[in-house]
Amino acid sequence: MADSTITHYNRKAANYEQKWHKYLEHTHQSLIKHIVIESSDVILDISGGTGLLAKNLVDQNYSFTYFVINDPSEEMLSIARQRFSDKPIISFKNQKVQDLSYPQNYFTKIICLNSFHFYEKQDQVLNRFYKLLKPGGKLYILDWNREGFFRILNTLIRWSSPEYINTRSLGKLRQMLSNNNFDIQKSNNWISDTGNLCL
Ligand SMILES: C[S@@+](CC[C@H](N)C(=O)[O-])C[C@H]1O[C@@H](n2cnc3c(N)ncnc32)[C@H](O)[C@@H]1O
Repeated sequence: MADSTITHYNRKAANYEQKWHKYLEHTHQSLIKHIVIESSDVILDISGGTGLLAKNLVDQNYSFTYFVINDPSEEMLSIARQRFSDKPIISFKNQKVQDLSYPQNYFTKIICLNSFHFYEKQDQVLNRFYKLLKPGGKLYILDWNREGFFRILNTLIRWSSPEYINTRSLGKLRQMLSNNNFDIQKSNNWISDTGNLCL
């Protein structure tokens, strides 16, 4: 990943939740509607940012065994660290997705929220997710869409922003998941918020 993405998020971390409040509220609640969490779950939020998803889950009384919030932006992650300083079942990693080192079959759930478009080698990332998941484990991806009108919007965003951005249509994402051995149980897209959801 281009380091400009990390620099961007380091600079924007302090205002991130406030600036994107509506979008985050909508995307997080849309994901939570579909997510199934069990008390035995070992969960990885691969680009967990400020830890907002974990906060929403804890606030809604979801229980799990262990939750790792990973993010390559130290400033985003430091907000998550402060947020959960008294919660030992939540831990933190500060790595790019491509560098993440965990044994195979380590997690029961991997969540990738609002972030897949930042990954450079998306096929390799999906392959890595597959290996990190226990047999029967689940991957949840929710991200921007690249269909219809949003193809134009995405192109404009790509041109005008310093970060590496590669959005996918739902069809393409499904194909990439199937190529990496995932059995897709649910997928959905919606126009108003440019979202893809693949479970
Ligand atoms: C839009 S934020 C989403 C954060 C969080 N998932 C949420 O919904 O609030 C995108 C996050 O992806 C992270 N990110 C960017 N490139 C990454 C990479 N190569 N590996 C892991 N995370 C990455 C950024 O640091 C940033 O925190």
